[in-house]
Amino acid sequence: MMYLPATRNSYHPIMLSRNFLLVASALAAAATPATANDTRAYMRPATQLSPFDGLDFTVGAHLFERAWVTAPSSTQAADGLGPLYNARACSGCHVRNGRGAPPTVGETMARPGLVLFVDVPPRNAAERALLDGGTVNNIGDPVYGLQLQDKAIPGHAAESKLGVAFREHGVTLADGTEVQLREPAYRVVAEAYGPLDSTARLSPRLAPPMIGMGLLERIDEADILAAADPGDRDGDGISGRANRVRDPLTGARVIGRFGHKAGNATLSQQVQVAFNRDIGLSVPLLRNAAGDCTQVQSDCIAAADGNSPQYDNLEAHQQVIDLVTLYVGNLAVPPRRDIDNPAVLAGERLFVATGCAKCHRTEFRVGAAHAANGAKPQTIHPYTDLLLHDLGEALADHRPEGLADGREWRTPPLWGIGLTRAVSGAEHYLHDGRALNLLEAILWHGGEAQAQRDAVVAMGRDDRQHLLRFLESL
Ligand code: HEC
Ligand code: HEC
Repeated sequence: MMYLPATRNSYHPIMLSRNFLLVASALAAAATPATANDTRAYMRPATQLSPFDGLDFTVGAHLFERAWVTAPSSTQAADGLGPLYNARACSGCHVRNGRGAPPTVGETMARPGLVLFVDVPPRNAAERALLDGGTVNNIGDPVYGLQLQDKAIPGHAAESKLGVAFREHGVTLADGTEVQLREPAYRVVAEAYGPLDSTARLSPRLAPPMIGMGLLERIDEADILAAADPGDRDGDGISGRANRVRDPLTGARVIGRFGHKAGNATLSQQVQVAFNRDIGLSVPLLRNAAGDCTQVQSDCIAAADGNSPQYDNLEAHQQVIDLVTLYVGNLAVPPRRDIDNPAVLAGERLFVATGCAKCHRTEFRVGAAHAANGAKPQTIHPYTDLLLHDLGEALADHRPEGLADGREWRTPPLWGIGLTRAVSGAEHYLHDGRALNLLEAILWHGGEAQAQRDAVVAMGRDDRQHLLRFLESL
């Protein structure tokens, strides 16, 4: 696979540092197959990278791991952090390109892998028009914006902390096995800028893994739409519809692909939103150096920024965006393991027979439209349809995003999921990380996936183990 950035220039020397050699050695290890305890399983480039793209990949990796600093600083290429932020580096949340970890009870956001999105329902005709026209996916809280930043540079107050409490409830499977599910209730504590709007809606979001993103971006819209069934005309209980969001470069409304509600159209857009809201940097699409600060947060708006004339008056200019996008777009999906194992094969059949593959779509053909760029068409196995599904009340966040309503989530890709523990040292699944293993993740399914969830509850122990073994082989 090949993801080419729009521009390629020479590198500013500041982009290269002693970390460069560490990353370069990771690149050299690209051929190593992933094993069950391979902490670097999500860090390898797709094998078809040319030497030139390999170098871009390495520089992109460094930028993904770069910790941004407060402006002004002597390193103009790496300053402009915040003033409000959630983490100083992409890798602060996507650790080793894996998923984040949610806080545990008593912890207030000690780890940055879980973010609280916020919005308010439209309050007037103008805001309604912005939403209906697809200009924006959400209207931010008038004071806190679209996301709560729990960190700030010196002299500024972090917006809030995140508190969580869990309520446990047991599920008894047909063979008598008891499974405890923990339902998190998040609350915002220590709001530093006054109360959130009384109508504010919160959505907890765990940082997802970074593999295979460029492949998802290359799936043709028509192939995604072919599987959509918004009115459930085939009567199988599963509808599935595409989110439609604004492509910020063309202004056109296109299919959303990235984020837990598919709120972002392109990888470059997703990367820029992350730089702007998570780290607080100005980027070509979002030129506000104060990131997610609102006009009400006047100290934050007035703070020194890291915009530099030699970088197009931005903190993270186009070249930085392109290199990080190339890096994230070319992270290989690790090869599957144990594919000939009889239990895994039996699990694969059950995955299809149970109906999991109706949403976790096993196959797409990509690249035909890009053949002119020299990229070869290929078949991919992402185990997602990239569509939105209502997964029931227990998982609902009641915060719409674009066309996605408060109960819908994008089917997450399952490729590489069997290496979660190897990469992250723990397992946290679903949009807020509430599920501590694959079985718990399945048992939380409801809504359109109620029948599939019930089928797993009804399974005998062997079948259930086979299904899980299959997921572990991905
Ligand atoms: C504070 C934690 C945090 C930081 C820092 C962060 N991310 Fe993320 N990332 C997330 C969360 C949470 C999501 C899911 C967003 C959503 O649901 O819309 C996400 C989603 C993504 C996705 C889409 C994944 C998918 O499956 O659709 C990409 C790509 C991504 N981030 C790249 C980056 C890059 C590049 C950076 C650095 C510029 C970065 N992230 C920094 C938390 C973070
Ligand atoms: C109606 C569509 C649908 C069906 C059917 C379905 N899923 Fe899902 N699945 C989803 C969605 C949407 C999510 C994300 C929910 C969330 O984040 O809250 C998900 C999440 C998951 C996750 C967690 C992934 C992650 O990265 O956190 C696993 C594992 C999973 N599904 C496995 C299965 C299995 C196994 C089956 C069949 C028994 C199945 N699913 C059936 C739509 C579906």
